[in-house]
Amino acid sequence: MSKTKLLFVIGTRPEAIKLAPVIRALRFHSDYFETRICATAQHREMLDQVMNFFDLRADFDLDLMVPGQDLFGLTNRILRGLQSVIPKIKPDWVVVQGDTTTSFAASLAAFYSKVPVAHVEAGLRTFDKSSPYPEEMNRQLISRIADLHFAPTENNRENLVKENIDERKIYVTGNTVIDALLHCRDKADHSHSTGMRHLREILDDDKKLILITGHRRENFGRGFEQICDALYRLAMRDDIQIIYPVHLNPNVQQPVFDRLGDVENIHLIEPLDYPSFVWLMDKSHLVLTDSGGIQEEAPSLGKPVIVMREITERTEAVEAGTVLLAGTDTEKIVSETTKLLDDDDLYQAMSKRVNPYGDGNASDKIVKAFREISIV
Ligand code: UD1
Ligand code: UDP
Repeated sequence: MSKTKLLFVIGTRPEAIKLAPVIRALRFHSDYFETRICATAQHREMLDQVMNFFDLRADFDLDLMVPGQDLFGLTNRILRGLQSVIPKIKPDWVVVQGDTTTSFAASLAAFYSKVPVAHVEAGLRTFDKSSPYPEEMNRQLISRIADLHFAPTENNRENLVKENIDERKIYVTGNTVIDALLHCRDKADHSHSTGMRHLREILDDDKKLILITGHRRENFGRGFEQICDALYRLAMRDDIQIIYPVHLNPNVQQPVFDRLGDVENIHLIEPLDYPSFVWLMDKSHLVLTDSGGIQEEAPSLGKPVIVMREITERTEAVEAGTVLLAGTDTEKIVSETTKLLDDDDLYQAMSKRVNPYGDGNASDKIVKAFREISIV
């Protein structure tokens, strides 16, 4: 029997984190599967950090990122790049993850090339195409194109069924981010990384650590200004310390460094390599973020998350009580954070919930599904 050939298209940091365990699991079954990676490099440094940590090498690197890129140019460059890569590999499947421009454009390129698409992390919905923007629409469009859907939760599966997607093509797997997180925690000593050394220098063990990240397009402008104002006010407390690895997007860097660059109790640092970030998350008291992946990871480490978005497609965690939606209103962020800092019962309740996104075996379930399909 010939091997099933899978082409993984990866553009950004979270896609690499969430696909690394899937590629690893498939490579463990190399009698049945051949895996190839095409990096669009929609992200450059932030993608390379993850690829290095997970020992992933791109077979093709389109090297597409340009500073301050826009959606039109990026989509166009990905389509053109894959137009030549797909025929060279002739894959049985193109595998994409999540909701980025890389995942959407790669799905479209596969469709134009008449290659079936497998979608990892399918079925998440806000049903509001302006938030997250453009990710909600990217994810819906990928579902229209995909032939195989790996849904993290039962709720995600139901969303797909309501959209008339054939139930036989949907597998509920949990989220592969938990596989990545557990692998990272268990992997041998990484305490000598540059990121970790720097963190040890700035961390004050006597203070509660609040970890911040943010990058959503719908928060650019006023949203980020309000978030910065909230952080500025919180930083006045002397029992906390704020650490913020700032995303490299210039639309984030500018307001954050302008408003918070000189605030004593706030450390603005570069994006961290994955193991250093996981280590920092584990050290933190709570996390304030608009990130998708961090909403899914932090509960596994028992860390409450305040989500600085008006709406989330990760509704399970809100229902489970591990994350709390605060939006970007300054008052609301300050008051919810203050409550969690001062009310120990509330803090304990939020930090002890079960993570609804799985227990770290999503990749094995994906491999099993590919095995079933290739036997039929
Ligand atoms: C992208 C995804 C978003 C995902 C996020 C993860 C889209 C439309 N957006 O948003 O869904 O949540 O990645 O972080 O697909 N930059 C660098 N170096 C890097 C990465 C980014 O300099 O390694 C800067 C560049 O100026 C780049 C800009 O950030 O042009 C924006 O990158 P882009 O991928 O377009 O958007 P993100 O906001 O990162
Ligand atoms: N992350 C990282 N270094 C950082 C910040 C985040 O490795 O400095 C990881 C984090 O653990 C999570 C992922 O990046 O797995 C989230 O990526 P991001 O927030 O950029 O994208 P999203 O998940 O919102 O699409």
